[in-house]
Amino acid sequence: MSSNRSSFTGKIGFVLAAAGSAVGLGNIWRFPYLAAKYGGGMFLLVYIALSVTFGFALMVAEIAIGRKTGKSAIEAFTALDKRFTFVGVLAAIVPAIILPYYSVIGGWVTKYLVGFVSGDASNMAGDAYFGNYIGSVGEPLLWFALFIGATAVIVLFGVEKGIEKVSKVLMPVLIALTLFIALYTIFSMDGAWDGVRYYLLPDFSNFSLMTVVAAMGQLFYSMSLAMGIMITFGSYMKKDISIEKSAKQIEIFDTGVAFLAGLMIIPAVFAFSGGNEEALGKGPSLMFVTLPKVFEAMPGGTIIGAVFFFMVLLAALTSSISLMETVVSVFMDKFKLGRRTSCLVVLGISVLLGVPSSLGYSAWSDFTILGMQVLDFFDFISNSIMMPVVALITAIFVSFVIKPKAIIDEVELSGKFKWKKLFSVVIRYVAPVCILAILVSSVLDVFGIVKI
Ligand code: TRP
Repeated sequence: MSSNRSSFTGKIGFVLAAAGSAVGLGNIWRFPYLAAKYGGGMFLLVYIALSVTFGFALMVAEIAIGRKTGKSAIEAFTALDKRFTFVGVLAAIVPAIILPYYSVIGGWVTKYLVGFVSGDASNMAGDAYFGNYIGSVGEPLLWFALFIGATAVIVLFGVEKGIEKVSKVLMPVLIALTLFIALYTIFSMDGAWDGVRYYLLPDFSNFSLMTVVAAMGQLFYSMSLAMGIMITFGSYMKKDISIEKSAKQIEIFDTGVAFLAGLMIIPAVFAFSGGNEEALGKGPSLMFVTLPKVFEAMPGGTIIGAVFFFMVLLAALTSSISLMETVVSVFMDKFKLGRRTSCLVVLGISVLLGVPSSLGYSAWSDFTILGMQVLDFFDFISNSIMMPVVALITAIFVSFVIKPKAIIDEVELSGKFKWKKLFSVVIRYVAPVCILAILVSSVLDVFGIVKI
């Protein structure tokens, strides 16, 4: 993003840029493993329900705050009410926590791409491969360093536009490929239909409060909400473009990609391991364990796998670039640092937090925080604590300080606000009450006070 606040050209420009930042590892890697773990169809249902209520209201509010003030998160809150500057600060810290561990996963993706290109594909389909890989010290660190290094170089030299162009062109290819892999698995592998059923048919006995906690965290993460990003995007948006339509388009696009990724991975888990609880509960490793087996079984699978991991890598890079860019611009604005110094500081912080996240699976696997491995801890603290807190205060801020009318007026600058009622009710009552309930229960759960 340039420092002078240029507007997005054209209608589709805004949606594409925002969707480009929204679609990333969150959709392809994180959504499927959460859906597998937290009840399949039940998770999907809760996720969609939250996304048309919470997700919609929060996305509209953030974009409108950004466009109204023409400023990024911290300054936007300051401009509207000085007492709420801290929300912007809190929001700005979130991407700094996400970037390091995001880059560790980005490193895993890079390793898999290189593995497929160098003819190691059948090895990678072995059961123990991934466990052994992340269980080793040096190699994951190397790929992490490469990924975060590449991100830093791109941000430092300001060449992200080029990468973004490439990735926009390739995004439809990634989507088509995901669909193809899903259909291939479903129609050619025994047991896959059980996975389709598990993923599409909600089973109410799978419902738990944890399903809601996980779905809400994922919603924020995947749509880049509650971290100031959409406020910044909104600040670049022209007044005659519909905030409501844009929010809906971003949501549909982002959820669509996540949905397809689930359809690609969950039936395959059933085909290869019968969908037992252990297989479904694998967590962060799910995609890396499952997909190589699918590619192994597929004619031409090595090439398809290589292309697939290449495109996932691009999607991950555009997200990591945008994450780093956000943190760098906060350092530039707040501490009056130059671009290069800010980049180096952010790179330093990322290495500092990323190395333990990577080592958490190998040398430091005995070291846990609140019973979590380091990477899981960073994921938890950002997604399940900080983002809900930011979302909660944003909802309260809109309801009681600037009042929903301020947002509605901004939205109506470009026409009628069709879902106005829904927006008001959600932002005023549903969001504050539900987010608070979820936040409290997830904290109690982690401290072992109640089991949810
Ligand atoms: N939404 C991105 C994804 O799904 C991840 C992400 C979170 C992100 N926060 C962001 C991307 C900020 C860009 C900017 O992978």
